[in-house]
Amino acid sequence: MAHLNSHYLKLKAGYLFPEITRRVKTFTDANPDAAARLIRCGIGDVTEPLPVAVREAMHKAVDELGVRETFRGYGPEQGQEFLRHAIAENDYRKRGLEIADDEIFVSDGSKCDCANILDILGVGNRIAVMDPVYPVYVDTNVMAGHTGGANEAGVYEGLVYLPCTEANGFMPGVPDEKVDLVYLCSPNNPTGAVATRQRLEEWVRYAADNEAILLYDAAYEAYITDADVPRSIYEIPGARDCAIEFRSFSKNGGFTGVRCAFTVLPKAIQCRTESGEKTALHPLWNRRFSTKFNGVSYVTQRGAEALYSSEGRKEVADLVSHYMENARILREAMNGSGLTVFGGVNAPYIWVQGPKGSTSWEIFDKVLNEAHIVITPGSGFGSAGEGYFRISAFNSRANAEEAGRRLAALKW
Ligand code: MLT
Repeated sequence: MAHLNSHYLKLKAGYLFPEITRRVKTFTDANPDAAARLIRCGIGDVTEPLPVAVREAMHKAVDELGVRETFRGYGPEQGQEFLRHAIAENDYRKRGLEIADDEIFVSDGSKCDCANILDILGVGNRIAVMDPVYPVYVDTNVMAGHTGGANEAGVYEGLVYLPCTEANGFMPGVPDEKVDLVYLCSPNNPTGAVATRQRLEEWVRYAADNEAILLYDAAYEAYITDADVPRSIYEIPGARDCAIEFRSFSKNGGFTGVRCAFTVLPKAIQCRTESGEKTALHPLWNRRFSTKFNGVSYVTQRGAEALYSSEGRKEVADLVSHYMENARILREAMNGSGLTVFGGVNAPYIWVQGPKGSTSWEIFDKVLNEAHIVITPGSGFGSAGEGYFRISAFNSRANAEEAGRRLAALKW
């Protein structure tokens, strides 16, 4: 009989969002009247239609594929040149950051990129994650066999957890011990916190001193409103030597269903071989793309390119302000609740500390039963999230306003 990957058996329960869906279904099956009133502020999924600029570009691309002269089959696995160029030029070089077109790798999502990057990193690395943490970073390391088992609280043996608390502004400082890989996420999912320039400088210095790699998830970069907050890790001198950046079109361009994202992997980044020699990672990532991926569809990449046109940029700005106005409404509703509220200023997530003594899942059930609103339990993001909950601002304005009214009326 074939053997399975037994590391999968170490995973705790279900992945967070399917587990929420399961619980919501149980509730709505039992309470059909409440189902009609349900407002989903759980998963951070966009609600607003695709920008016109994107739709026009995609229609045009479909038409090109319908004509022999302009038809295209396989594209470059790493991404079409026009999109790699638009990304490198607009997101980096125009901001004074030195990134070459071929250091951009276009993919179908940041979740996949954060997982796939482990393919080119070896075993035996000491790995640090923030706690609370986007569950994908942890679960993919479990699947790859980089951890031991988990305890009751879901803490995996072998990982270094960096607690994110009110005291450190939910953005951890560097650890006292040496680690090889560090996952950082700013603007942060789930806490909505952002890393200051000073904090990122500490991390880049730490990475240089310890020959560590920073895996920098900036999927929510478009939501940064504070001019002093870095939008890219490459704003920090030295980051080109130690940081891989993950970005996505999901949350700025409304691409959660369309699927398009990218990684930036500078050629300067090196790792050690088993025999101890330093070697560049870029050719390995390039090789991985060629072997395991056939690229994002041409139509999608034309759509993503259109986000950089002047019309596309305006529409992205409108989408971001729509969700950030929702965040303001929800944040204000919670501010009157007597609970302590974080986030929602440079990120579309509001992070709330629940009443003393309540677990995150108890709060989830209360908000679902009494307000008919789906939130995300903080403990689903790690043990340091216990007692907290996350409210997503991705919604229609009408839903955000109604959710705000219901949340404000809840008795804690
Ligand atoms: C979330 O709600 O945390 C996000 O939607 C997850 C994701 O983007 O994969």
